[in-house]
Amino acid sequence: MIEAIYQRRSIRWFQDRPIPEAALREILRAGRQAPSPKNRQPWHFIVVFGASKTGMLAAMEEGLCRAERGEGLLAPRPGYVENARFTLRAMSEAPVTVFVMNPEGRPLRADWSAAEKVHELSDMQAIGAAAENMALAAADLGIGSLWNGNIFFAYDELRRWLCAEGELALALSLGYSAQPPSLRQMPRKPLESLVTYRS
Ligand SMILES: Cc1cc2nc3c(=O)[nH]c(=O)nc-3n(C[C@H](O)[C@H](O)[C@H](O)COP(=O)(O)O)c2cc1C
Repeated sequence: MIEAIYQRRSIRWFQDRPIPEAALREILRAGRQAPSPKNRQPWHFIVVFGASKTGMLAAMEEGLCRAERGEGLLAPRPGYVENARFTLRAMSEAPVTVFVMNPEGRPLRADWSAAEKVHELSDMQAIGAAAENMALAAADLGIGSLWNGNIFFAYDELRRWLCAEGELALALSLGYSAQPPSLRQMPRKPLESLVTYRS
């Protein structure tokens, strides 16, 4: 398990090779196994592959065009949409993208009470754990993954296209890596700068 933690890295180039059904199921099972507040299991996984990728990519493209016009959920900042286009290319190469819906999630633009915020924050922690479980299970199976925060540039378009109950929380693309091995691993801050020990 610790080996998978250090092996995993974000993959942005994928082979044109499907993920075997058994491996995909194993990855989804690992996601389901994550801890969650009061065991709410606040997730529904939508697995997009094959022909349905076309609709997903079109929705993402539509969202990015809107962002380029200065519209949409995220105000465009220089370089951000270009970066999101890079993510879109990776999503188009990946044979599978798993969207995580939070069935009890509230729309991003909703007004929140303090209790709802706590509920949502706790659920999001669990959803993050589910995604990391999936990424680590994938790494263990020799499958690469990319966490796609840039989907929020196309939040409205993807929600409409997914047409699913609940709130769009997260997307993880999966596939066999075609990433040049020469690409360096992303550095981490020194542990000493991140940790305070109190005895
Ligand atoms: C919540 C979240 C959102 C992310 N969104 C994107 C994204 O949209 N596009 C992308 O290329 N990488 C994305 N990443 C990957 C990060 O850039 C990457 O994890 C970080 O640079 C560290 O590199 P590593 O994963 O290879 O260790 C995201 C990661 C997280 C955790």
